[in-house]
Amino acid sequence: MQTEIKTLQQGLDEAVSLIKNGDVVVFPTETVYGLGANALDSNAVRKIFEAKGRPSDNPLIAHIADISWIDRLAKDVSEEARAVIKEFMPGPITVILKKSDNVPDEVTACLDTVGVRFPKHKVAREFIKACGVPIAAPSANTSTKISPTTAEHVLEDMRGKVPLILQGGACEVGIESTIIDMTADVPTILRPGAITQEMLAQVLGKVKTFDGKIVVAKAPGMKYRHYAPSCEMVVAKSAESAVEEYRRQYKNKVDAVVIGKSNYLDGIEGVLKINFIDLGDSDAEAMRNIYAAMHKAQERYGCIICQDFGERGLGASIMNRINKASGGKRV
Ligand code: TXA
Ligand code: MG
Repeated sequence: MQTEIKTLQQGLDEAVSLIKNGDVVVFPTETVYGLGANALDSNAVRKIFEAKGRPSDNPLIAHIADISWIDRLAKDVSEEARAVIKEFMPGPITVILKKSDNVPDEVTACLDTVGVRFPKHKVAREFIKACGVPIAAPSANTSTKISPTTAEHVLEDMRGKVPLILQGGACEVGIESTIIDMTADVPTILRPGAITQEMLAQVLGKVKTFDGKIVVAKAPGMKYRHYAPSCEMVVAKSAESAVEEYRRQYKNKVDAVVIGKSNYLDGIEGVLKINFIDLGDSDAEAMRNIYAAMHKAQERYGCIICQDFGERGLGASIMNRINKASGGKRV
């Protein structure tokens, strides 16, 4: 199969007919690129699992192009859930709701809930709207690989496995959507993201924060190793220990790279000789650039030494991905 990258203008008609024929299409969103198929067609959804090599007990998110589509996917939507939807959609959030009967088990991995997301990205919205059906989509990477934040990342990973990638440039948010389970007694964050626990608490009064054990039970995806670069990756507890680790790797003839915010290595001696990838000045920029930095680093280096972004706000969301990528290894 040939894989082509096309702009929305060049590729929209083809994308729509692929979806109508039960095929898959890769499309950009503000978080990461998604591998989409008609969420109401179980055969089409099976093709996603095939292309990705993903275990089928891991449910998919259904993407919509208008708030009114939620009622095609979900039932008994609470007032609280509607408040979250109103505040944050379209945007980088997925809301877990009680599923309606027309959502196939292939999408939800037989759960009685469904994840619904209304992306903000213009190309995603126009594509989904033109299809006229909710689009089930995981991130457009083969299972366990890093999520793609450019069309070129997708091509590198999925060439020959998908017919069409819609071009949408670099994803603005850069990590996957926040997932909040609105069917739990206390709304529970299953995956942190750009919509933070603080932002959700503002709307809901009370949310249960991300907690390893609960997430394993409710978001089965969390039990698989995710977001892993092909080289070694460690988190440094301080800039000093990052530099120390760099030198240790160098002695062992491993070409390492430090990744962190612009000022990470300021004031540390001898840093001019160190390979460094600059993630930008703010946590939002670091979040936008983290996967691209991991993509770049794994091509050139034997070890990634990464800054610790702390436990609060966007930093906690970035750390969630970095801890998975590094397998929790710290220096
Ligand atoms: O930003 C995103 O959410 C991207 C873009 C493409 O929209 N999509 C994405 O999908 O990250 P994926 O499949 O890589 O991650 C979806 C996560 C998985 O961990 C899955 O277990 C969880 O969502 N999930 C889906 N439906 C669920 C449900 N009904 N209950 C609990 N967790 C669910
Ligand atoms: Mg994924």
